[in-house]
Amino acid sequence: MKRIGVLTSGGDAPGMNAALRAVVRTGLSLDMEVYGITHGLAGLLDGEIEKMTWSSVGDILHRGGTILYSARSKRFLEEKWQDHAVTILKTFGIEGLVIIGGNGSFAGGLALAKRGIPVVGVPGTIDNDLGYTDFTIGFDTAVNTVLDLISKIRDTSTSHDRATVIEVMGRHCGDIALHAGLGGGADFILIPEIESDIRKLCMEVLKGKHAGKRHSLIIKAEGVELSTDEMVRTLEDVTGIETRAVVPGYIQRGGSPTGRDRMLASLMGGKAVRLLYDDEGSRAVGISGGKIISVDLEEALRIERPFNKEIFDLAVMLS
Ligand code: F6P
Repeated sequence: MKRIGVLTSGGDAPGMNAALRAVVRTGLSLDMEVYGITHGLAGLLDGEIEKMTWSSVGDILHRGGTILYSARSKRFLEEKWQDHAVTILKTFGIEGLVIIGGNGSFAGGLALAKRGIPVVGVPGTIDNDLGYTDFTIGFDTAVNTVLDLISKIRDTSTSHDRATVIEVMGRHCGDIALHAGLGGGADFILIPEIESDIRKLCMEVLKGKHAGKRHSLIIKAEGVELSTDEMVRTLEDVTGIETRAVVPGYIQRGGSPTGRDRMLASLMGGKAVRLLYDDEGSRAVGISGGKIISVDLEEALRIERPFNKEIFDLAVMLS
């Protein structure tokens, strides 16, 4: 394979740039030409394609966001546009594609792979919701962003004897809440994988107060059915404790990637190009048990995220 393309798609994640750098520089080192496609799969449909050089990915390893920009593409869900994407790739002579993104982007990649384009997916999403890999690029940075926030909220929450509900991202996956909850010593963790009982939560908060706790930190994943506003209202009504909500939102998607995310991104980006170089398409790279792996792309999309109950139980025990 002599000419490959690379794009970042879906919600951006810290470490996407590091992965891009690894893709471009590994490709160039293997005497391939590397083309960058801007604005993800949407940009591919519009032919937003430029040749990348060694220096076009200089000084980006530490930067959040993605220099290739990102987008979500509704058009790409339609077969006629998937066919159109193949035509564009062929017109540019692009023989293989690296897609850095989450499950929506991988699904788009699979549509291309089924049309004969060798595609390798690199998991770039803060959600950590892809079941075939232990970690996705950006997750560690997002968790650290939330940890920083928890420490700050703990200060003010204690000063005012308040309860605070922190709603974190993750779509249908509770991993950001789970990891930040354990690492940040949250009093309660509410995630979509475990049914939450608001009445029980109120009783526990009251119990904590009577036991001398000066604050209650409740970390709630956005995928939990009960809305944050409703939760705050119920907590105040039932416990009489002043309660606030904090929703960090897109802050979790920005910032310089942690060392761990930079490592993961570099290793996975390099591996993705090696696979294309060896003519292996329709793969997804990941990490399992500390080792970089690759699995069939369709299989990667099928594997459900296993829920780590041990982490949850430990967090409950330590709170
Ligand atoms: O997938 C990353 C993510 O940030 C999710 O955690 C969140 O639910 C979603 O994207 C937000 O999407 P958008 O950027 O389209 O608002």
